[in-house]
Amino acid sequence: MYARIVGTGSYLPGAPVSNVDLAARGIETNDEWIVSRTGIRQRHLAEPGQTSSALGLIAAQRALAMAGMAADELDLIIVATSTPDFIFPSTACLIQGQLGNKGAAAFDIQAVCSGFAYALGVADKFIRSGSHRKALVIGAEVFSRILDWQDRGTCVLFGDGAGAVVLEASVQPGILATAMHADGSQNGILNVPGQVCGGQVTGDPFLRMDGQAVFKFAVRVLADVAEEVCANAGLPTSAVDWLIPHQANIRIIEATGKKLGVDRDKVIVTVDRHGNTSAASVPLALDEAVRDGRIQRGQKVLVEGVGGGFTWGAALFEF
Ligand code: UT7
Repeated sequence: MYARIVGTGSYLPGAPVSNVDLAARGIETNDEWIVSRTGIRQRHLAEPGQTSSALGLIAAQRALAMAGMAADELDLIIVATSTPDFIFPSTACLIQGQLGNKGAAAFDIQAVCSGFAYALGVADKFIRSGSHRKALVIGAEVFSRILDWQDRGTCVLFGDGAGAVVLEASVQPGILATAMHADGSQNGILNVPGQVCGGQVTGDPFLRMDGQAVFKFAVRVLADVAEEVCANAGLPTSAVDWLIPHQANIRIIEATGKKLGVDRDKVIVTVDRHGNTSAASVPLALDEAVRDGRIQRGQKVLVEGVGGGFTWGAALFEF
């Protein structure tokens, strides 16, 4: 029994905000610096009050519509997010309530930018075990809420959005292999080291990053984990029709493709238009490439993520 993707959906809030728009808002930056270092040209930013559950709900509804599935058929809902609406209940439960589903298992996964790869891996295991048959997996983020807009080294990199897939148990091939890893000793290179305590935020509630350390770590593990899932599926990396790496930086994406020997035109890229949307980046890119017809049924797609923790993971599936 396989977990097969039967629907995809995504949602980006509001109008795009260009690099020039950011500079006009008083951030000491310029389009040339951002484009040459990251490939990012624009991003979408949620309105005040527009939460991860609000973005994730729309992405989920679009994925369910493509799958031709009613929300009450779902028996599993997983949301990957590092920017949940609340400390609790989970964003998954909030979306479940909005969808009108009752009874499905619903929980969040916190693996930052690897969140969607982790969530796919978990859903795959639930479905393969036979315990669950119809799963909704969402990546939804409002990173704009945890950015220090005075820190030009980080605030220009991220955006908000959500993507979702619907998975169904099937005898036809779907997810072929998944991998999840972490190295907690690297927790300090990318984090939001704050907490709510005694009615106040203590520590630092903003995203902090050692960009160069993250860059080196990301290129190494993204290539390693892609090779790992291909090996576990018994396939060479040349069998991959489409590579969807986490969309953080075009230089990381290109270096990963090169290391794996995957042609540039087989790599799906959205970072130029979406920025880094953390756990939402991979399902947003997947949905775009499914809807514009690049990804076709029967093709092999490798998705992968890397992020705070440090965490990294991948999934190889036949679409
Ligand atoms: O999901 C994982 C998310 N994280 C990532 O993917 C980040 C990975 N890292 C990177 O992509 C790169 O390290 C960055 C794009 C973040 C930074 O590039 P860098 O080449 O490592 O630059 P840097 O941080 O060493 O900064 C170089 C210069 C500095 O100026 P000085 O000290 O050389 O005068 C910065 O102050 O660039 C300056 N700078 C900027 N200038 C204009 C930093 N941010 C900006 C900015 N606009 N937004």
